[in-house]
Amino acid sequence: MSEDFTAKKIGDSLTEVTHILFPRSLNDMGRLYGGQLLEWLDELAGIVARRHCGGSVVTASIDRMDFKEGAKQGDMVCMRGYLTYVGNTSMEVRMDSYVENVSDGTRHLINTAFFVMVAVDENGSPAKVPPLVVESLREQAEWEAAERRMEFRKMRRKEGL
Ligand SMILES: CC(C)(COP(=O)(O)OP(=O)(O)OC[C@H]1O[C@@H](n2cnc3c(N)ncnc32)[C@H](O)[C@@H]1OP(=O)(O)O)[C@@H](O)C(=O)NCCC(=O)NCCS
Repeated sequence: MSEDFTAKKIGDSLTEVTHILFPRSLNDMGRLYGGQLLEWLDELAGIVARRHCGGSVVTASIDRMDFKEGAKQGDMVCMRGYLTYVGNTSMEVRMDSYVENVSDGTRHLINTAFFVMVAVDENGSPAKVPPLVVESLREQAEWEAAERRMEFRKMRRKEGL
């Protein structure tokens, strides 16, 4: 785990990955299998969080995984992950997934999800993460929405919902 607690910008850890949909990632309807997307997103969220904290992380929670549209064989699926909020040891990563039109580069959104990643030390105990620099009005609005989700998750854990 890095001992450098200098604040970092959202762009410092923002990460994009693109996959071409091959048959092995399809369900029996010939659409992108949800479990495959989840695996790709979990790895991407881990990369974003590691880039921010400079050490190991675990996935603590995944929520609001909204499948808006399907994707089919041969589609290019682009996933974009970035931090919206950091706490003491936790980080919320927003993940947007798109299908990209190969002829003109336009994208349409197929999935959004929020992952909570927790930095851990060599014993697996939560470890402090660097602060996040929030610059634009949009980033500030995302931070405030994430704060509300964090509060809700705390309440959900406390009340076993
Ligand atoms: C995530 C984990 C490290 C948290 O450990 P813990 O002893 O409960 O630690 P704490 O209660 O001090 O919580 C640490 C942070 O995680 C957050 N957190 C813990 N559980 C959470 C959950 N279910 N959802 C959202 N945030 C959570 C807390 O809010 C806290 O955030 P903060 O430090 O920014 O305020 C621990 O529960 C764990 O190792 N879980 C298994 C992770 C794993 O194996 N993931 C892979 C799944 S296949």
